[in-house]
Order: sequence, then structure tokens, then C-alpha cells
Amino acid sequence: MSQKPFFVLANFKMNMDTASLKKYFSNIKKIAKYTPLGFAIPYVYLANSKKIMRHTAVKIGAQDCSAFDKGAYTGQISAAMIEDVGCDFCIVGHSECRKRGDSNADIQHKLEKLKNTNVSVVLCIGESLEQRKNHTFDAFLLEQLQTVFSTFDANELERVMIAYEPIWAIGTGITPSMEDIQATILMIKRMIADHYPSPMMMPKVLYGGSVNQNNILDIKENTNADGVLVGGASLDIEEFQRMIKNIC
Ligand code: 13P
Repeated sequence: MSQKPFFVLANFKMNMDTASLKKYFSNIKKIAKYTPLGFAIPYVYLANSKKIMRHTAVKIGAQDCSAFDKGAYTGQISAAMIEDVGCDFCIVGHSECRKRGDSNADIQHKLEKLKNTNVSVVLCIGESLEQRKNHTFDAFLLEQLQTVFSTFDANELERVMIAYEPIWAIGTGITPSMEDIQATILMIKRMIADHYPSPMMMPKVLYGGSVNQNNILDIKENTNADGVLVGGASLDIEEFQRMIKNIC
């Protein structure tokens, strides 16, 4: 079994509460040493989650941020606020946010705001089933990647991760074949390498969409994903522990 570091990021979406997070994280502390872990938490629980997980290597992050610095944006949370509560990373461009209206231009503004902080970025990209079937997904993914190209220089890529999450695989129980995950991640890495002058540090590229305890090892062993972004299967601590056990 290969020993490459394999990042397991969990996206809790709009789930959990104070009590369940406390219980969940006390179990996570026991497995945190086995593989790099990160958790994207609802905003209101970020500060407390960070406090619970202090003295561990576990990363805590937000699920989105505002495209604006500050001001009259009721309900929004700025990149500076996410930094202020000690977050390590912030997801941007999740397909659930894109579906609610986030354009690539909005996402680029969010990346620019995060660039002015110490918070790392996890940019989600991914195509629809129609785009996969009619082979237009490569151009679509490249367009989504342009937001990173326009924001970060080659020497800033260390703080960027890409999560390839095909929309049709999210929450459906369906995943692409391992060959398709491999080919798409290779393509994403090639697009990044083609854009930046070498030498450059290739960002980690994760796979997301219906990752669970039955397919995580296959993804780790049979694709070139540097890790996974897990939604539903991360919510149950026992399932999450089994996922980690399966790859270690
Ligand atoms: P599921 O693992 O539930 O398919 O969700 C994936 C996801 O959206 C992670 O950001």
C-alpha cells in the first residue's frame, strides 16, 4: 500500500450542533494521527470547533465566504472573519453554492479576499452529467480553474487545493469509474502545469462525490487523487472512523 499523504476533508454542510460536534471531535482526536484530516463546519460552530481541536493537527475550515471585504452584506461572513476565528481553510465554489447563484466571477472575488488572509483555499470544480456525456466538461473545468489562475501566482499555490466534485456524483451514491477519476485529475493537473511556469508547486487535487467506506481505498490506491472531500459519509462518526481505518 502506498504511503503518500492522503487528505481526508469532511464537509458537514448544514449539519451537526454543539453537542454532536463535541462528541464527534472527541472521537476524531483518537484517529487524527493516521492521515491528514480537515473539517468544513457551519460558520456558527467554527470558533468552538477550532478550540476543541487545538493542540491537534486537524484542520478546521469554513464552507464558503463573502466576495466582499465588509459592510452592508446582511448574512454574509468575510474571509477576514474566517481568519479571525482561526480557520485553516475555506471551501469556495461548491456546486451547491454555484447552484444558488455563485458565478466564476463571484468565486474569483472570494479567492481574492482569501488571498489577503492566511486561510488556505479549497476550490471545488465539477461538471454536470450532460457535460460529461457530451464531452464539454474539459472546457468547463478549465473555465472554473481560471479563477485560480487569475488570482494566485505560481509561488502562492501552496495554499490552494482543488476538489474535483462531479455534480452528478454528489449525494447520489454514484461515482465515476476509477479510470475516469484518474483521467480527469490528470487533466486538471496538466491544465495547472500548462498555465504556470515551472518549477511550480502542484496544488493537491482531491476527489469528492459519494466517497464512502467501500470506495475510499479504491480511490486512494487506484487514482492519483491526493485525497478526498467527503459529504454525507462523514456525518456518522463510526462510518468516518471505518473510512480512515480502511486507508491506513
Ligand atoms: P457526498 O459525499 O455526500 O456525495 O458530498 C460530497 C460533497 O459535496 C463534499 O463537498
